[in-house]
Formats: sequence, C-alpha cells, structure tokens
Amino acid sequence: VLAPLGFVIISYLIGSISFAVIVSKVFGLSDPRTYGSKNPGATNVLRSGNKAAAVLTLIGDAFKGWLAVWLAQALNLPEHVIALVALAVFLGHLWPVFFKFEGGKGVATAAGVLLGLNVWLGLGTLATWVVVAFCFRYSSLAALMAALFAPFYSALIFGTASPVFWAVCVMSALLIYRHQQNIRNLIAGKESRLGSKKTAN
Ligand code: G3P
Repeated sequence: VLAPLGFVIISYLIGSISFAVIVSKVFGLSDPRTYGSKNPGATNVLRSGNKAAAVLTLIGDAFKGWLAVWLAQALNLPEHVIALVALAVFLGHLWPVFFKFEGGKGVATAAGVLLGLNVWLGLGTLATWVVVAFCFRYSSLAALMAALFAPFYSALIFGTASPVFWAVCVMSALLIYRHQQNIRNLIAGKESRLGSKKTAN
C-alpha cells in the first residue's frame, strides 16, 4: 500500500512543477500569472509573443503528465493506481504545492496523461483539439471540446468499468471547471483568439 501511495504523492509533486513559470523565468519574460488570462499555461505564455517559450511550456507540461503515467506503467502498478497517478499529476498542475496552489487549467498536462494512458486516446483527443482550434481559433474552446470527447474515447478503449475511464471523466470535469472564465468570455464574444497578444481578460 505504501509504495503505490508514495508514487501517487510523487506524481502530484511532478504535476506541481509549473513549466509556464519556470520557462518564462529562464527566457526573462514576465510571469504569465501577471498578464493576459493570468493563467500559467502555454496559451497564455504565447500571449507574451515568445513562441519558443510557449512551445517549451506545452512540451514540459505535457511531458510531466506523460512521465508520471509511463513510470506507473513501467513499475507495473495496478490499473486503479495508474488511474490515481493520472489524477494526481493533473491535480498537481491545477493546484501546485510549489506555487501557493495557484496552477493552470490542465490542458497540456491532460494531453500528456492521455498519451501515456493510451496512445490512441491521446491522439484522438489531440485531434479533437486541433480540429476545433483550426476551425475557430480559440484555444479554450478546443480544450473544452477535447475534454467533452475524451471520456467517450476512453469508454471505447477501456470500457466504463475501468478506473482509468473514471479518472479521465474526473480530469475532464475539472478541466471544464477551470475554464469558467473562458466559457463566460466565449459566450460574451470576448475570448481572445489563439496567438493574439496580451489582450485576454
Ligand atoms: O491552455 C488553457 C487554454 O485552454 C486557455 O488558456 O490562457 O486562454 O485562459 P487561457
């Protein structure tokens, strides 16, 4: 019991590493929590105008999600522990212990987690994001649609009896919950388009 629990805690700590804050500091950019949507995530770092910093944030936040799940699988942990690890790394990103529990919205980390859980689940969800982002040019709308579809994909792949399916459902619900301001902005027609500079509120 102790080893799996320890690994779940380690996963939460891995998730707590905010690449938006770290990469911005390394690049000498303003803290992403001070401009745009104030969200420490790749979309908001892109509003700084530095594409490389945004891409590195995306890769870092996705990689930590993938890594936690991959390690859990490599250690042959049971499926319900893998589901808890997936949730823990995601929760770490949303409420990071290293950053006063003020984290991001979980999109990149969820993508990494889903890719780790199952490559087709990850690719299907990413494809959903890309199609919506390409058609509408809103990062948040793309994330919301991907979050709505991910549980269906995971039901098809794992079945609804799997703890992994339920972990994906909880991640989607939390991701949508963290996008409340984006949903309000989308409805009011005030959401900033993907790639536009520091104008989001
Ligand atoms: O990656 C989060 C994205 O869906 C929305 O980010 O900064 O526009 O609130 P942001």
